Amino acid sequence: MASRPRITALIVAAGSGSRAGGDLPKQFRLVRGQPMLRHSYAALANHRQIGSVFVAIGAGQEENARAALAGLAPANCEAGSDTRRESVANGLEAIAEKGDTDFVLIHDAARPFLSQHIIDDLIDALLGSPGAVPALPVVDSLARGNIVLSETVERENLWRIQTPQAFHFDVILQAHREWKGVEPTDDARMFMASGREVAIVAGDEALGKFTFAADFSGPEMTPTIRSGSGFDVHRLVPGEELWLCGVQIVHDKGLSGHSDADVAMHALTDAILGAMALGDIGDHFPPSDPQWRGASSGRFLTHAMMLAREAGYELSNADVTIVCEAPKIGPHKAAMRERLSEIMAIDAHRISVKATTTEMLGFTGRQEGIAAQAIATFEKSR
Ligand code: CTP
Ligand code: MG
Repeated sequence: MASRPRITALIVAAGSGSRAGGDLPKQFRLVRGQPMLRHSYAALANHRQIGSVFVAIGAGQEENARAALAGLAPANCEAGSDTRRESVANGLEAIAEKGDTDFVLIHDAARPFLSQHIIDDLIDALLGSPGAVPALPVVDSLARGNIVLSETVERENLWRIQTPQAFHFDVILQAHREWKGVEPTDDARMFMASGREVAIVAGDEALGKFTFAADFSGPEMTPTIRSGSGFDVHRLVPGEELWLCGVQIVHDKGLSGHSDADVAMHALTDAILGAMALGDIGDHFPPSDPQWRGASSGRFLTHAMMLAREAGYELSNADVTIVCEAPKIGPHKAAMRERLSEIMAIDAHRISVKATTTEMLGFTGRQEGIAAQAIATFEKSR
């Protein structure tokens, strides 16, 4: 072996994706805006120690593969075959023909989210072992059964094995050439059958394989951060109570509206609904519905927060700006943050309440109404 090992990657992308369904084989469908194959191809091709990347492509899929990889470092596309093992074998033979590699990393195109540190760890592991795979411990209870469960399976020392699977090239090539067993689900199995041990490096939940249709709407497909903005105005009139951010303020006028007209809370509720793309406050609490007459706006806010949590998001922070000439908001800001944090069931440090005037200009300047705007940012929590 040369002092620095020569490393080649092989991506198998010749399957039909029958369990995932869809118009295209899954490896060419869009995932986070790009064909699935492009993600792992870019991760492997961009790694500084990987010299070349081979891709096994199914018959008739060459055009899809070319489109998926357009603009990236040119791929060595090889014909795949009817089974995954044969697709790998074809790829390995093509690499052998070139004859210039010490290590090979064999990867499923169906695992798009491959991070550089997994590649680093696998290459490091190959310096001390002829094979290495990323694997995750089993955390759920395991059992065997058909229609009902009848037997427990101890999960100790059991692993969920992912790809890329990394091997000393000559050894895995030979294992493939000599394989006579049933179709294996991965290459590590063949390697172990040939009497070799395979080292484990820490796997990555993000590296999960897209297998079923539901995987295309799974958590990996949704953004982890979402933001929304809200804006509202209510008229100031004599004889009404003034509620802002759930705090009642003594003032010579109050806000008119169907509910308690808490303009700031309405803007915040709309920001939350906006972040979740769930319409606006009027969709959820129509002003025409008598049950919301005089209602506390806290109910709207609680409902919006519940919808966000149901969607798997937790509020990262929210920022509310109240626009009015009078009353002075400053003395109430701390109480407002406190009240919002109670209603939303979050820490007060995640909420900001600010105020400004419009220099006596416009309807807020003339004290005909109060305006409020808000922004809310959420992070995926599960
Ligand atoms: N694969 C391949 N050649 C095959 C079968 C599978 O190159 N004849 C590749 C797939 O493209 C995928 C990886 O092996 O990247 C893992 O296989 P799997 O998830 O089973 O994909 P498919 O075989 O395409 O899906 P299905 O089994 O649902 O038809
Ligand atoms: Mg398959």
